[in-house]
Amino acid sequence: MGENVYETEDTVAQYLHFHFGEGEGSRAANFLADGRGFIFPVETVNRLLDLDASSASMRALDLGCAVGRSAFELSRKVTSVVGSDLSYALIAAAKNIASGEPVSYRLAHDGGAATNHDVRLPGGVRPERIDFRVCDALKESGRYHFIHAANLLCRVPDPAAFLKRLPLMLEPGGQLALATPASWLEQFTPRDNWPAMPVLDFLKEHLEPHLELTREVDIPFVIREHERKFQLGISLGTSWRVRH
Ligand SMILES: C[S@@+](CC[C@H](N)C(=O)[O-])C[C@H]1O[C@@H](n2cnc3c(N)ncnc32)[C@H](O)[C@@H]1O
Repeated sequence: MGENVYETEDTVAQYLHFHFGEGEGSRAANFLADGRGFIFPVETVNRLLDLDASSASMRALDLGCAVGRSAFELSRKVTSVVGSDLSYALIAAAKNIASGEPVSYRLAHDGGAATNHDVRLPGGVRPERIDFRVCDALKESGRYHFIHAANLLCRVPDPAAFLKRLPLMLEPGGQLALATPASWLEQFTPRDNWPAMPVLDFLKEHLEPHLELTREVDIPFVIREHERKFQLGISLGTSWRVRH
């Protein structure tokens, strides 16, 4: 395996824009629905988890959190949030944002030009509630009331082993938000470990013995390469609850 793409400056910039940019309220958004921007890690938290006033004293774990937007969103309602990712560079950026340090990144325009952008912490989030740390999702332990794992499943070497661990880390009545675009790549997952069935069936096979599927929804995401080139993905968003 070559250089880890999740440690490069370009990837950090791409994720800073993906998580804290203007929600692609730009050229790409004009082609999507009513042109409204949307920020994927905000959508996955809001659409896949039922957070309410009683969540305040609970614990949440965001696996593969990258630069942390979904962890920041969780911190609005949950007092103890762990944001975990394998990439030192992405977690360093998340920590800097949380500590209020100015964080800026270069955003590719067209024709090779680039402009500087500053990240602004969204209003109402509670960075002091978040512990960002570098950790392999397969080595995380502990028990949580909420686990969020967006677009991580097809980036781990052994997705079945990853799925099997998740129910063990949930408290009774706990919720799991799992989103995946099922974009399998040998760079991350050996072909022998790719599901030999549609991804929803794969999720059910490993999670249904312990968790109940409560929601299934398509959640789009748009990753900007430059001003005139975007990747559109459609993640399968699923919500699960510990069976009583
Ligand atoms: C496609 S990105 C998704 C990031 C974020 N959850 C989102 O939806 O925007 C995949 C993330 O998983 C992280 N990652 C890859 N393998 C991992 C592993 N074994 N444990 C934890 N994080 C991992 C990468 O560093 C990257 O931040």
